[in-house]
Amino acid sequence: MAQFRILLLAAILMFSGVVVDAYGPGDNGYVGLRDDYYGTSCKDVETVIKKAVQAELAKNLKHAAGVLRMHFHDCFVEGCDASVLLDGPGTEKTAHVNEKLAGYEVIDAAKAAVEEVCPGVVSCADILAYAARDSTVELNGTAWAVQGGRKDGTVSLASRAEAELPPPEFQVSQLIDSFARRGLSAKQMVVLSGSHTVGVGHCDKFVSRLYNFNSTFFTDPSIDPAYATELKNICPQHTFNTTIEVFMDVITPTSAGVFEANYYKTLQEHKGLFTSDQSLFDDTRTKATVTSLLNNERFQKEFGKAMRAMGRVGVKTKGQIRTNCRVVNTY
Ligand code: HEM
Repeated sequence: MAQFRILLLAAILMFSGVVVDAYGPGDNGYVGLRDDYYGTSCKDVETVIKKAVQAELAKNLKHAAGVLRMHFHDCFVEGCDASVLLDGPGTEKTAHVNEKLAGYEVIDAAKAAVEEVCPGVVSCADILAYAARDSTVELNGTAWAVQGGRKDGTVSLASRAEAELPPPEFQVSQLIDSFARRGLSAKQMVVLSGSHTVGVGHCDKFVSRLYNFNSTFFTDPSIDPAYATELKNICPQHTFNTTIEVFMDVITPTSAGVFEANYYKTLQEHKGLFTSDQSLFDDTRTKATVTSLLNNERFQKEFGKAMRAMGRVGVKTKGQIRTNCRVVNTY
């Protein structure tokens, strides 16, 4: 019955000219989000955000990958509600898993610019979703239409971030399960993992694959041997430095990264940096998707669709429009 009502509502909205995605895996049955959500309340919002994001990324393009990852880390913990942006002791950003998350200043700048033109109208959760798209485009990715309408949350706990975000040691079954719990399919999980075509990883996140892997293999046999030697040189056993950065995409290793399908090629060459990456090629449930995404045009198209689905995870209909993205409103 509830499903019927949702479908009916979606049909009414569709025929009234409002764009809503079909009910299906990934939209979590929530139809409160819309394209052009701020069309009347803040019509220039997307341009204002884009300009602010571009100005910030001109200072440090590496933050583009940070913002993209930030949107993921936001959506998987308490839903896409900007909980990752809150400052304070014990909030999500203090969690070990968020230790290297970067680019908060990009969101601060975008929020400040938006408040200048439309005070109190645009949520921080929406700004993060728009900024993640704009950051991807700055790395040569293809744009997608971002839906708006998220409200900002008031709860942000480091313990929730540690518990909810998938670690790099996860295998395919655990990854599928983690995404399925958010209404996202195995295919969408593989598509979204393609984000690892940009940005960096640190030694502590993959060193367990290099040394004392298990009782049979000293080094994870799924890593290309020459690549394993390269990684060992960068991250020596016991003495690695946790600030050393390794480009996740060895095919286009530029400091900020280039957003294209090469990530899937690295998996084919057994040069995926994390277990969570390489296992996507080595598992029969996800291998065909990896192979199909070697086509860059398909990857870009699928990525936008999957990001829209991720942007709907746990969205709140009630909540705040924060004045400052780092602090909960007290009024
Ligand atoms: C599938 C499960 C995923 C796992 C296990 C995972 C894990 C990781 C890890 C361990 C890092 C490196 C962190 C560090 O060394 O400091 C990383 C970086 C990154 N992740 Fe993921 N991730 C996943 C999915 C995603 C998704 C869905 C997105 C975005 C939609 C994403 C975007 C990124 C980006 C852009 C970076 C680079 C960040 C930077 O250079 O600042 N990841 N991820």
